[in-house]
Amino acid sequence: MKPDFSKLVVIASPEDTLDSTLRLMAEKSHQLIHKGIALVVDESFHLIGIVTDGDVRRAYTKNVSFESPISEIMVKDPISVSSDLPVDKIIPEIYRLVRQSPRHSSNSIRHIPLVNEKGVLVDLLDFFDLLISQSGSHQSVAIFGMGYVGLTLSVALASRGHLVTGVEINRSVRAQLDKGIPHIYEPGLQEMLKSALEAKSIEFSSELKLPNNDIYIIAVGTPLDDSFHPNLEALNSVLNVIGRLLKHGDLVMLRSTIPIGTTRNIVIKTLSRLSGLEPGKNFSVAFAPERTIEGKAMHELRSLPQVIGGFSNSCVSKASQFWSTLTPSVVQVSSLEASEMVKLANNTFRDLSFAFSNELALLGHEFNVDAFDLIQAANEGYPRNVIPSPSPGVGGYCLTKDPIIYGSDHQGNRNQAVLGNISRSINEMASKYPLTIINHYCQRNAINLNHLKVLIVGLAFKGEPDTSDIRNSTSIYLCEHLKDKVYRLFVWDAVVTSSLLVDIGLNPASSLDQAIIDSDVVLILNNHRDNAKSKSYYNPSNKKLIFDGWHQLDKLTIENIPDYTYATMGYMSPHK
Ligand SMILES: NC(=O)c1ccc[n+]([C@@H]2O[C@H](COP(=O)([O-])OP(=O)(O)OC[C@H]3O[C@@H](n4cnc5c(N)ncnc54)[C@H](O)[C@@H]3O)[C@@H](O)[C@H]2O)c1
Repeated sequence: MKPDFSKLVVIASPEDTLDSTLRLMAEKSHQLIHKGIALVVDESFHLIGIVTDGDVRRAYTKNVSFESPISEIMVKDPISVSSDLPVDKIIPEIYRLVRQSPRHSSNSIRHIPLVNEKGVLVDLLDFFDLLISQSGSHQSVAIFGMGYVGLTLSVALASRGHLVTGVEINRSVRAQLDKGIPHIYEPGLQEMLKSALEAKSIEFSSELKLPNNDIYIIAVGTPLDDSFHPNLEALNSVLNVIGRLLKHGDLVMLRSTIPIGTTRNIVIKTLSRLSGLEPGKNFSVAFAPERTIEGKAMHELRSLPQVIGGFSNSCVSKASQFWSTLTPSVVQVSSLEASEMVKLANNTFRDLSFAFSNELALLGHEFNVDAFDLIQAANEGYPRNVIPSPSPGVGGYCLTKDPIIYGSDHQGNRNQAVLGNISRSINEMASKYPLTIINHYCQRNAINLNHLKVLIVGLAFKGEPDTSDIRNSTSIYLCEHLKDKVYRLFVWDAVVTSSLLVDIGLNPASSLDQAIIDSDVVLILNNHRDNAKSKSYYNPSNKKLIFDGWHQLDKLTIENIPDYTYATMGYMSPHK
């Protein structure tokens, strides 16, 4: 039976304008099953195109007129399948069509139009719903560690229909989550958590009260200890719990970042010993690295390709089938070690590329060369390099430790890799660079550090995308260093709450504008867009040093103000 399209999806003609189609999509969204999409058909209802919210956004950025016909921006010849195809053949057919088409990727497929033998549109399916229904659907999943990684993943999986138990040892975190209030800042997370709690697809538990599950995912922290060795205590404690619950057919997956070889030599050995079960035969094990970026995690969990390495081929297949219910793109690698290395490769490469830029800045300092200008000149029109921006240090939970984990084996000994240690030491030097600038300023102007009122702008470890995470933030390191050495230290952040800043012993400014006027030294240390919004940077007030750590301000205007000194990575205004 042909479905009632008026309740299913917006149907447009090729000559309908962008404006009218968009209005229809907005007005009817609450009554439609498929939102954010319009199917374009000709007068005989042949499917000729698809337009999604994303296409409209792209058209907007390219200044396409909203009076243009929808055919101008629609995706022509969309991927569709025959309505005669048995339902269990649809997913393989989609993957086959995607592989054949240079214009499509499985990442971009959200909806599947069904057409009859004449190409006439007869139905529309949700790709994710289909993946879930084909994968044995609602599996019971226990996820250990409700931090950034575990909580966002738990909520995303619950939204795909799995029954998720979030296991967390911290009672106050559990109590907060039970009320639907995340203890971390992540756009979109709170709404999805509330929906999952209402749908009863998620609950939070201690290790002791954990019910039986089919799938176990480990997302506990793996910090470095005081001697810079990966601390696997939390991992070992979780393995002790899982090892006693494990039964035939279960799947165990690691999400935490660990030294290469840990899954095979620690995880599998412990689980086999405690359960008496044989890996690959009685239970499956896979490593599935987390690669989302804080601030966009809820989106990236559903769009980034998921890398999977397993103990055996059947472990890889089982894990891949599970992750396909969350993301349409799975990348299978040859072994557990290969998947462990992918995560470390991604983060060490990132840290190393930032280290190169920061080394340029530290070198540039000797010659008073602005590293942002230098890198812009090096990149301009030159297709063979894309050098990233420098920064006053590289902080955060992952990039400060993963390059070290990359150089360690599962027993805590060093392996032969050296680049991670090098990148770390350069990026740590860069985080001290604002202190070098302040010292020069003091010497040049014969001022004592303990007479200065210092304002630090940007406390989260990064500004974009938004996060309130201050773990291993270089700004916090500088606050600790300067707190007792300057006359007064105050801080401002666009996202981190004042109460959190007070809790860690800092003095948040109530107004950024006033704080800039009142200070002798301003250090901008992360790249949040709001850091640069104040006009006070450009209003002459008392003698001032402005360190523009991310090149967000108008250098020339500041340098033209008498008594103002501008500085950034590698550069400080010549003495006036
Ligand atoms: N933060 C990121 O963006 C990110 C990205 C990729 C990978 N990772 C990796 O993922 C892992 C987790 O990172 P995170 O940022 O979520 O850490 P986190 O410290 O925010 O969270 C870990 C949580 O685990 C809980 N926990 C500790 N022991 C436990 C136990 N025995 N049982 C249950 N819960 C326990 C802690 O109380 C904490 O709430 C780390 O290995 C990290 O390197 C993190």
